[in-house]
Parts: sequence; C-alpha cells; structure tokens
Amino acid sequence: MSRIREVPASESRGHAALSPTLLAWLDAEPLVMGTVLEVGTGTGRLALALAPRARRVLAIDTDAGALVEARRRARRAGLGNVLFVVADAERADYRALGRPDVVAAHLCMSDLIVLRAAAGLPLGGVLAFAAFHVDQWRETGRTSRFAYDTDRARAVLEAAGFRIEGLEVEREVTRFESSEEAQAFAAPFRAKWETDGRWAEWERFLAEGGRTLTESRLVARARRQGQG
Ligand SMILES: C[S@@+](CC[C@H](N)C(=O)[O-])C[C@H]1O[C@@H](n2cnc3c(N)ncnc32)[C@H](O)[C@@H]1O
Repeated sequence: MSRIREVPASESRGHAALSPTLLAWLDAEPLVMGTVLEVGTGTGRLALALAPRARRVLAIDTDAGALVEARRRARRAGLGNVLFVVADAERADYRALGRPDVVAAHLCMSDLIVLRAAAGLPLGGVLAFAAFHVDQWRETGRTSRFAYDTDRARAVLEAAGFRIEGLEVEREVTRFESSEEAQAFAAPFRAKWETDGRWAEWERFLAEGGRTLTESRLVARARRQGQG
C-alpha cells in the first residue's frame, strides 16, 4: 500500500515529522508491558515519543553527541524510563543490551540491523521501522545504499525469520512554484548534497523544468517466528 501526499512547499513536513504509520503501528503494541529498543535514535525523538507508553525504552546510536542532547531532552520531559547508550546497531547483541520485546527504528535501517533484531528478539517479538524508500529525493539522481523498496524489504525480513504484518510506502511530493523556491527549500541539505554529488543533479533537474522534491519512506512491521 502507498500513501501519497502532494503539497506546496509551505505545507511540506519533510524530515520534520516522525512517520505517522510507524507511530500508529507502535501504538497498537502493548508497550506498557515490555522493553523497546530503538536503534539509531539520534536526538531521541522516537524514543521520547514512546517512553510515556512503554515500561522501558533503551535507545542506541553511534553518535555520542546526539545522545547528550537526547538525554537532555528526556530530563526536560521528566522521563525516567528511557536510557540512551552509545552502541553500534549493526554489531551489538540486542539480548545482552536489554532483552527487548520490540525493536524500533526511524530512518536507520540495514540488512544487518534486521539480522541483529532477529537474533535479539524473542519469538513473537516485533520489529517496526520506517526506512528510506528508494524514491527518497529521487530528483537528486541517487539512491541511498540504505534505502529499501517493498520487494527487498519483504525478502530481507522473511529471510531473517520475520512474518510481515504491514508494509507501506509513505510518500510526500513537495511542489514548487519556481526554481528559486526549490533551491531555497533544499538549502539546508546543500552542504551534504555537494559532497555526495546530489546538488549538481538537483540543479540539472531544476534547469530542465523539474519542480518537485520527493520524501519517501518504507514502513514495516514484522513479528519474529520460527525456532527460538
Ligand atoms: C537519519 S538519522 C535518524 C535519527 C532518528 N532516528 C530520527 O529519526 O530523528 C540516522 C541515525 O542513525 C545513526 N546510526 C547510523 N548508523 C548506526 C549504527 N550502525 N548504529 C547505531 N546508530 C547508527 C546515526 O548516528 C543517526 O543518528
């Protein structure tokens, strides 16, 4: 299933919003009974959104600086049941980290993380994530090596022993009135796009009359099955 939202620049949510589908799916889980492990938490926005409804949230990231900010935000929000730990989600032993019942991720996903989650969750445990979809920023001519399409996500999850309960694409296409409006909108990404070669492709797209920018996420919910 695909949800497509077409908006003018003034209404674009872009990177600013957590995936509504992921939040709704996690809402349906009995988090109050168990431990959520969030991988790639950054400054903790998903962990902080889940903490009020969960017994315990453990959130990891390789970026120690981002976790300093995450801890500050947790303190400010008065949340005592969320712990931020520096760890590599592709290498860590999730069971040893904290026996999670749910592994969640927002814009941090890879095949190795799926395998780690499969090894670390109990039977019936849930992996729920929003990943970049292959159409993310398609106008810049490059696909992130971490991006998934529906078929690849399905294959990777099933090969790791998950039963897929939901797979959706959330897409927001921002439409611009002019090339100048598009350039201004993308200005926050310029430094990054210049280093990875996207900016030149984006300028070419605009020069050829293109007036869109696509945000696209693959959202998945899967339950561990098979041998314990
Ligand atoms: C696009 S950001 C998303 C941050 C956050 N989940 C959010 O949506 O605001 C990706 C995050 O994943 C982290 N990350 C990347 N690879 C990682 C790994 N192997 N283990 C843990 N964190 C990782 C980065 O440091 C960064 O904070």
